[in-house]
Amino acid sequence: MKKTLWLFGNWKMNHGPAAAEKFFSEWKQLRQQPFAAGIQVTLFVPAVSLAAARDAAAKFDSAVRIGAQNAHWEKSGAFTGELSGPLLQEIGVRDVLIGHSERRQFFGETNESVRKRTEGLLEQGFRVTLCIGENRAEREAGKTKQILLEQLGAVFTSSAGNEPAVCSRYLDQRLLIAYEPVWAIGTGLTATPAQAQEAHSWIREFLAEKCGKDAAAKTPILYGGSVNPGNVETLMSQQDIDGALVGGASLKPADWNSLVLGASKVL
Ligand code: PGA
Repeated sequence: MKKTLWLFGNWKMNHGPAAAEKFFSEWKQLRQQPFAAGIQVTLFVPAVSLAAARDAAAKFDSAVRIGAQNAHWEKSGAFTGELSGPLLQEIGVRDVLIGHSERRQFFGETNESVRKRTEGLLEQGFRVTLCIGENRAEREAGKTKQILLEQLGAVFTSSAGNEPAVCSRYLDQRLLIAYEPVWAIGTGLTATPAQAQEAHSWIREFLAEKCGKDAAAKTPILYGGSVNPGNVETLMSQQDIDGALVGGASLKPADWNSLVLGASKVL
């Protein structure tokens, strides 16, 4: 049994403002009862839909949070195409997804830029969901653990070189880690519960070594990669899996509603 379960959806480049409103009104029709205690829902939506989704979510259930899919570490400046913390705060957004594999793969995001974004946004008071994960070639070469530790290690190195400060700033449930094997994203291939649990235990060990057991135990570690209503319960029942980051199955209210219901069984 778990006390809290973090169910986060990532709409990627889908659902404009009208579709966002429609999503919430359809979800309202489907949802028979309030969420089970301990369920934390956040949806990461396209930038143009943030305000509409924020309003629709507030009407639906004030516990549902809306987040941005990326943001810059600087508060303002000449950074065409980027969003800043203050711009997001102005419209009431407090959650940001950082380092998603699609940003790393297609938009040149590096471990260093991921570190800067994470550090800058945590400093500005955001809750950051940091994505890490190995690709297929890395898994097949037996390098999964090494890649995860490299990705985490890069972020847990403060620019000031002061690691205890990184721990106290990061690990108060404002930093969540999403383990997403790249080969499982959008492919219908899911890591087996055992594969996911193993990777999550490596992440937990890393956090414990860096920041102590208590901080590690409190840090939510989410699994992502083809999570759907049919596999969510088994995945969520693994010891070190504290939630899910869901792409495809977060787009349709019917899928998302049954995914939330299915996951709630482990609470
Ligand atoms: P998927 O995407 O659920 O469609 O595999 C997950 C993600 O990219 O966060």
